[in-house]
Amino acid sequence: MDLIHLPHTIWKQLALAKDDRQHPWRTPVLASIDSRGLPHARTVVLRNVDSDSQVLQFFTDSRSPKVTQLSTSPQAQIVFWSNALNWQLRVTAQITIETTGAAVDAAWRQVEQSPARQDYLSPLSPGDALAAEAPKELGHSHHLAIISAKVTHIDWLSLSPEGHQRAEISAGILRWLTP
Ligand SMILES: Cc1cc2nc3c(=O)[nH]c(=O)nc-3n(C[C@H](O)[C@H](O)[C@H](O)COP(=O)(O)O)c2cc1C
Repeated sequence: MDLIHLPHTIWKQLALAKDDRQHPWRTPVLASIDSRGLPHARTVVLRNVDSDSQVLQFFTDSRSPKVTQLSTSPQAQIVFWSNALNWQLRVTAQITIETTGAAVDAAWRQVEQSPARQDYLSPLSPGDALAAEAPKELGHSHHLAIISAKVTHIDWLSLSPEGHQRAEISAGILRWLTP
């Protein structure tokens, strides 16, 4: 792997992952910290990749704990692993969250057509305990939020029997690291 081409290769792979349901990078783990400094990590679906602005996007329920955590502490780490590429990406990102506006409306029009629509119409918030008589009817308004992650740092690790490789990519930095 030529170091100079690595950033482009990674962003190309992220763009492929967004559109390919089978791509292991389509479901990374997004980690945040809560108000007590405790870590929380969960799997999310990669919904949008903008390599020009270096932004990754995810959809979530605006009432979910991750939205509170990421609004209060907008730094996140996103970890991708592909057993096809044998590549791990550890991405550090600055988060912004949109719960209203044109982008959310457009995202909802897209999600509304899919089975995922019910994820955003529950009368209960994600993580709420279910009562024996849990309400089953969907609400009329959605709770979709867009999480935008502006990538500030990438730690790329490639595993290979011929020798592992690791590189750091961030503003003004592109260098090999000891794996
Ligand atoms: C394969 C997979 C994909 C998931 N995709 C999403 C997603 O795109 N957005 C989301 O909010 N939760 C997604 N989840 C659920 C989260 O992992 C998590 O359980 C939920 O969002 C609650 O997280 P929180 O309590 O930390 O807010 C996914 C779970 C799995 C297993």
